Amino acid sequence: MTEARVFFNFEVTADSHTLAAYRRRGGYQALERALYSLQPTGVEAEVTLSGLRGRGGAGFPTGKKWSFVDKASPVVYLCCNADEGEPGTFKDRWVFEQAPHQLIEGVLLAAYALRVRHAFIYLRGEFDLPLRRLRAALMEAQDAGLVGERILGTDFSCDIIVHRGAGAYVCGEESSLLTSLEGFKAYPRNKPPFPAVKGLYQAPTVINNVETLATVPWIIAHGGAAYARLGAEKNSGTRLFGISGHVERPGLYERPTGYPLKMIIFDDAGGIRGGKPLKAVIPGGSSTPILKAAEIDGITLDAESVAAAGSMLGSGGIIVIAEGTCMVRLLQVLSRFYRHESCGQCTPCREGSAWMDKIVGRIVAGNGDKGDLERLESITRGIMGNTVCALGDAASMPVVSFLRKFREEFEYYIEHGRSMNGGRLEI
Ligand SMILES: Cc1cc2nc3c(=O)[nH]c(=O)nc-3n(C[C@H](O)[C@H](O)[C@H](O)COP(=O)(O)O)c2cc1C
Ligand code: SF4
Repeated sequence: MTEARVFFNFEVTADSHTLAAYRRRGGYQALERALYSLQPTGVEAEVTLSGLRGRGGAGFPTGKKWSFVDKASPVVYLCCNADEGEPGTFKDRWVFEQAPHQLIEGVLLAAYALRVRHAFIYLRGEFDLPLRRLRAALMEAQDAGLVGERILGTDFSCDIIVHRGAGAYVCGEESSLLTSLEGFKAYPRNKPPFPAVKGLYQAPTVINNVETLATVPWIIAHGGAAYARLGAEKNSGTRLFGISGHVERPGLYERPTGYPLKMIIFDDAGGIRGGKPLKAVIPGGSSTPILKAAEIDGITLDAESVAAAGSMLGSGGIIVIAEGTCMVRLLQVLSRFYRHESCGQCTPCREGSAWMDKIVGRIVAGNGDKGDLERLESITRGIMGNTVCALGDAASMPVVSFLRKFREEFEYYIEHGRSMNGGRLEI
């Protein structure tokens, strides 16, 4: 297993986020190489060769996404998705705080490949330090001739515009992000047409996650083939995994894809807090189906392995749950979140997420009804696949998987009017 690092390859110090420090570790050399010796198609070809797959959740191959764009279009836009609202996910903020120039260089390389004149970074509204670090880095880059007109003396010009969100999780959904950028209420759009065909202001638009774009400088510096050799076969590279919940050392870890899930929990993150047994793992952010402890044996951190176990690697936010936790209360926390974040545009998600939250809430209050579990399942069937965006599915998947895996806890709660685990979330 390789030890190559795309992100955690420098010591974080008081000034390691600055342009000077980034240059000292080879920063912007990939951009120079691309602008002086590669055609835009050459940059796209390296990214395709690398096998890089999007880190925003869906894992779509980045080179393929770029290939859908009609580069002869008079205007092409690039939007960097930095909304980072999925509970359990806290990787992109690290990039802004510690390596903002790596993202800027990645944005510029993608913009060069896609013939983009104006690129946008859509930043989660609650981010404060990330915003300050990004703005400072952009000023440095502009002063150094790395952003704006005739970058590094070439014909390539690109402005980077920062847009702050206002605290809505749905704005991370790509079409909603575009609607929000255009100044409208952030309702997601029906697809097709996909953004690569008709995106921002009806122009072809690529939307990529922060981690995806910040990986591109490494690919151009070392070559797509070198990146393809890192990690798992169909899921090349390294990924930033955020581990939260009941572990001794929660935090952000960069590991090659294909790394064992158990190893990151028990070795890197120090195992379960207080030496308690593991109860369950949500492997890729709060919307991904939960796995019981016995199901994680042999799972490796790549999309195929996690999918084979019945879940998704999503945005790499691993939530670890210790024995003793009340799964009914935990589902209530998740249901409340999705109900709150449903934008209300389509009926199944708007009404269904509210009903699910209401039913789980009344079970927790000790007023559950025998038919409530079937009712919950029927609501998820009404939502999944019937909504404008994937938030409806995201709200339903925890309900489906919690009921499938921990049904006895729900039944006990309904029968006795109380939790079989004392209603604990903290252990
Ligand atoms: C409700 C919802 C929220 C999302 N939030 C984010 C987010 O905060 N950041 C992100 O990169 N992708 C998010 N996505 C996925 C984006 O729609 C899109 O797939 C992603 O930005 C594409 O980038 P990638 O190809 O680099 O992964 C979200 C999707 C949904 C349905
Ligand atoms: S699925 Fe939910 S969040 Fe998405 S458009 Fe419909 S109501 Fe809005």
